[in-house]
Amino acid sequence: MYIYNKDMKSVEKEQLVVNWNADRAEKNGYDHFMLKEIHEEKDVLRRTLGEYVESVKTFLNKMPDMSKYDKIHIVACGSAMHTGMIAKAIFESYAEVETVVEIASEYRYKKVFYDERTLVIVVSQSGETADTIASLRKAKEDGIDTLAIVNVVSSTIAREADNVLYIRAGVEVAVATTKAYLLQVAMFLLLNLKLMYERHKITSQKLSEFLKLLKKSPDYVEKVIAGEKDYFAIAEKIYNDQNIFFIGRGIDYAMCLEGSLKLKEISYIHSEAYQAGELKHGTISLIENHTKVIVLMTDRDLSLKTISNIKEVKARGADIVLITRQELDSDYDFVSEKVVLPKTDDYLMPLLAIIPLQLIAYQVAKLRDCDIDKPRNLAKSVTVE
Ligand code: G6P
Repeated sequence: MYIYNKDMKSVEKEQLVVNWNADRAEKNGYDHFMLKEIHEEKDVLRRTLGEYVESVKTFLNKMPDMSKYDKIHIVACGSAMHTGMIAKAIFESYAEVETVVEIASEYRYKKVFYDERTLVIVVSQSGETADTIASLRKAKEDGIDTLAIVNVVSSTIAREADNVLYIRAGVEVAVATTKAYLLQVAMFLLLNLKLMYERHKITSQKLSEFLKLLKKSPDYVEKVIAGEKDYFAIAEKIYNDQNIFFIGRGIDYAMCLEGSLKLKEISYIHSEAYQAGELKHGTISLIENHTKVIVLMTDRDLSLKTISNIKEVKARGADIVLITRQELDSDYDFVSEKVVLPKTDDYLMPLLAIIPLQLIAYQVAKLRDCDIDKPRNLAKSVTVE
């Protein structure tokens, strides 16, 4: 190759070979969209909270009126359903509102017990999932109020629901959802504050404190993402396994469901999530020497119970990977690998604990050479029954 200056004299230039292509550029230099999207979590969370929590007044205006309802049904599929499980734990413990979570493909065909004091919340990243749309229509036909938590603007679910809260995660390309999941959880944390406020569980002063706390959450998310290398080192220890179990109690169990799904969908390792106390009723027979058990332990009230479950599986030879928080950390001798989340309020834990699980799943799939962004047999949006 020859290069000439403006006087048409040949000049020597140093060559720099850029190993990028259009695909890589779109991924901002990340190897996969999934990794890029996990790294975006702090930014999208900051942006969405900025929109909904600019002030207490904005928050109260943007959140729907929930005062009329004494029961909530949350209906969704896949990861969106898992955010519903987190919402159930929060709504029932903080706002004391009975919450039922159902898989949309079941809900649409079953006898449902609801009335005018029930709110049906459908959750969907795409807003186009066939079973979720059918469940929404069923509730509407029965005259029940509906609220949608959706990412894609003007999608079918967003258009048809009585009310919509957009999570504004931006485009999510990887089939395995990460940033949309996190924002759905954030939206439920906001909704819970509205429920608590309307039910006089918190004063406006306390509401303002909670909102300030949530606004700080992107800094914590950033901190947890920064621990990436440690999570990748854990992936190195588990990526050759055939079976991996996740256990936790309460809200930790809800996060285990998502951690387990993330791992199996992209790495093709068989994985199951169990309520920690339930394993002994059958599944513990699968625990052998060096079976990996990932334990989520962020709930302070249940930690001693979880520890006794860890001991049960440890006694059967399991290798324990513990994900806990600074306040519960100790020199546990039963642990092979450990992730310690930063010290912060309980309320932020569901936004933090999932991140190491997403990154471990990502790295395990990478080490197994899987098609991370497009796992076999899966689609980003399931528009058929
Ligand atoms: C598919 C995706 C999942 C997603 C589920 C629900 O199975 O692979 O990641 O959680 O659909 O999708 P939705 O768009 O309704 O959230």
